[in-house]
Amino acid sequence: MTLYSRVRPLAFKLPAETAHDLGKRTLRAAQSSWPTRTALSYAYRYEHPALEVDLFGETFPNPVGVAAGFDKNAEVTHALEALGFGFVEIGTVTPYPQSGNDRPRLFRLREDEGMVNRMGFNGQGMERVKSRLETDGTPEFPLGVNIGKMNSSSEREAIEDYRRVFDRLSPFADYVVVNVSCPNTPDEFDEASPEHLRSIFETLAAENDADVPMLVKIGPDEPDDAVLDLVDIVREFGLDGIVATNTSTSREGLESPNRKEWGGLSGKPIEPRSTEVIRTIADYTDGELPIVGIGGVDSPESAYEKIRAGASLVQLYTGFVYEGPSTAKRINEGLVELLERDGFASVENAVGADLE
Ligand SMILES: Cc1cc2nc3c(=O)[nH]c(=O)nc-3n(C[C@H](O)[C@H](O)[C@H](O)COP(=O)(O)O)c2cc1C
Repeated sequence: MTLYSRVRPLAFKLPAETAHDLGKRTLRAAQSSWPTRTALSYAYRYEHPALEVDLFGETFPNPVGVAAGFDKNAEVTHALEALGFGFVEIGTVTPYPQSGNDRPRLFRLREDEGMVNRMGFNGQGMERVKSRLETDGTPEFPLGVNIGKMNSSSEREAIEDYRRVFDRLSPFADYVVVNVSCPNTPDEFDEASPEHLRSIFETLAAENDADVPMLVKIGPDEPDDAVLDLVDIVREFGLDGIVATNTSTSREGLESPNRKEWGGLSGKPIEPRSTEVIRTIADYTDGELPIVGIGGVDSPESAYEKIRAGASLVQLYTGFVYEGPSTAKRINEGLVELLERDGFASVENAVGADLE
């Protein structure tokens, strides 16, 4: 029995966001004390050459990252590194602070091993995040920065929002993700329309003198032809990859009472569709376009399935909440065994293995 399996029933008695805040405060305290941080690294980090992934000009120590939304304001990047993750994507970061939607806005769906959130881009804004990255220093593992617009912005203002956050935070980023797929922010216009995407990418390309790798994050509810249209635009602008997928508005097949809450569904229920989106993109691009796969990853098998479907890296949020601090270590240890079982020398060799 792990320590977390004893703590979890207590944590799950608290409202989900209170438990999340408490967890983050604990991680923040742990990262600010050198002995605790070292002890965490000692207990949770697992290194193996087969896990290393070279991508975006960086070496990821392993392919298992923390998804956007967990560390919106870059408060615990060093603690997440000590817990053995291979990278973290901070954000979504907006130009100014935003309080997001009213609480409660985060719900566990325990029977379904999922969550519903309607946080609504709550965050401290780019200046606070920038100064925290300066004060704390960036972690050694790769850092992704997920950028978004203010909830009140019009279509034209949104372009300027992305430009400003990119300008401010891309110097700290190993890759930047344009998030146009959040299902719980006000949608005054279609954020994922080809015209809007083209304006964003054109603007950011003109800003990107340092050639920071740029990706776009897509939702699981888009039909396949819309996914492929997006891939065409990604290629037209020479973007570096796609993050698939964000949360879903679907409630199909759910049992938990909290399925009635509105917002974005994450975790196990979205796993099949998110893997299908990854496979669709990888098929269409002959595995040439890097994919960061997310949605229901919580075990070596679920990470491996996404890798074999075409993801070079995976991320998780909900799985971390359910599985606790040893999640990355457990997944990475298991991945090495799965690779050995199937005769792959490395994660990189297994990417897209299930494609025809
Ligand atoms: C509470 C919560 C907040 C999130 N906030 C963001 C966000 O700010 N930006 C973003 O791109 N994705 C956000 N996500 C989506 C996750 O990054 C991820 O795409 C999704 O949860 C699916 O992964 P999972 O099944 O491992 O949770 C959030 C998810 C959760 C549960």
